[in-house]
Amino acid sequence: MSALHQKRIADWLVTTPENQEITVSGWVRTKRGNKDIAFIALSDGSTINNIQIVADLSKFEEELLRKIQTGCSLRVTGNLVASQGAGQAVDLVASQITVLGEADAETFPLQKKKHTLEFLREIAHLRPRTNTFGAILRIRHALSFAIHNYFNERHFYNIHAPIITGSDAEGAGEMFRVTTLDASNPPRKEDGTVDSSQDFFGKDANLTVSGQLESELAAMALSRVYTFGPTFRAENSNTTRHLAEFWMIEPEMAFFELEDNMDLAEDFLKYLIRYAMEHCADDLAFLEKRLIEEESQMKKEDRNPMALLEKLKFVSEQPFERLTYTEAIQILERSGKKFEFQVKWGVDLQSEHERYLVEKHFKKPVILTNYPKDIKAFYMKQDEDGKTVRAMDVLFPGIGEIIGGSQREEDYEKLSRRIDEMKIHRESLWWYLETRQYGTVPHSGFGLGFERLILFVTGMGNIRDVIPFPRAPKNLEF
Ligand code: 4AD
Ligand code: MG
Repeated sequence: MSALHQKRIADWLVTTPENQEITVSGWVRTKRGNKDIAFIALSDGSTINNIQIVADLSKFEEELLRKIQTGCSLRVTGNLVASQGAGQAVDLVASQITVLGEADAETFPLQKKKHTLEFLREIAHLRPRTNTFGAILRIRHALSFAIHNYFNERHFYNIHAPIITGSDAEGAGEMFRVTTLDASNPPRKEDGTVDSSQDFFGKDANLTVSGQLESELAAMALSRVYTFGPTFRAENSNTTRHLAEFWMIEPEMAFFELEDNMDLAEDFLKYLIRYAMEHCADDLAFLEKRLIEEESQMKKEDRNPMALLEKLKFVSEQPFERLTYTEAIQILERSGKKFEFQVKWGVDLQSEHERYLVEKHFKKPVILTNYPKDIKAFYMKQDEDGKTVRAMDVLFPGIGEIIGGSQREEDYEKLSRRIDEMKIHRESLWWYLETRQYGTVPHSGFGLGFERLILFVTGMGNIRDVIPFPRAPKNLEF
């Protein structure tokens, strides 16, 4: 039978065993047994659960049996029967075993003992073969699919924003340069600076920090759109919440005001969490158990107040708390808590402030709005008071900011003035400004950090452990 039509281990594990002959392929997780019989746990990554292969040693060559070690790959044909042992419903009684690829169990980096996540990061090429990363990769896939599903069902169009850009969407200037010039001997202008007119694009080029600006252009024609692509930030922050390359989902909607934007963000996040609970139950149960074990080594106050599934259910059911930045500052000032970073109106909130609001004060997700204009991007719609803008950040327990967004400034004059005030190079944004000159409309959007969502759903502690190959300062091995 063509491999295309072969059932996976996940399928056989839920099939009624009737002594039918089947074939499976996968990697050996463990092998145990006695002088008569071997029990081999085989995984093909289709589920967190392995299929148990039972091999009567008298039926196989010693040479073959010796080669079956942790890490090697096998194709096994045999009969599917009800398991005699506890722990699994079915066994595969092997009649034919082929070793596809050997692995020396002595040197194979993934040993039976538990490895630290730090160590697994150093062997990122093999960590998908662990239970934890298998679960995370399946959940990433499920949520990626759910995101497209959510928007498709609501008639949003998926727009592919470019990855190479000539503008700085967030105006924060933390971008990776893209160039084909010879780094050791670039062409120079008379004043000694690099002459980028001779570079590939004839001007400076960067990797995008956000697909928003292009998304806005499309929303001005298709009304509801979204992007889901990689974004790059050269901020040198070595934290458990930042990557230099991460994936972002950015919906952008014409005719949406800030309230509508918040409604969408809340509904979207709840949908995704419920989707994971429904479609990734086995993987989440495994990750919950893992987390409980890990936390049993920690001090009580460092443990999560809720187990993983309880937390997911709670967040998917509770209305999020909505308040303004100004109200949040008052709460923080009155808290009597000593923060490392000072709290006063006008400062950017640090993760310790965000987490206090979410985890200690409200004990549920929070949407903060109307931030001071000086700490937010140029494109956000200005409030009447002249001090704040229609920004919204969604803050999650254990994560801090998971979504950042806003209503956009649709007024040409106001936007234009703000660009000048913030000393942004307006020539490079002429096309963006034109959308405000030709048929401008109120519109809004936001960006969800995909890895922060995965962090929350999996209960993992470090963002480098929820992306296959993390990109971070001084980190580019795989
Ligand atoms: O708040 P940010 O910077 O917003 C934007 O980029 C807007 N253009 C979005 C929009 O309105 N369309 O980033 C959005 C989200 C953050 O809330 C966070 O979840 C995630 O992206 N994020 C990061 N995730 C991982 N590593 C980083 N370095 C991140 N920076 C932002
Ligand atoms: Mg932000």
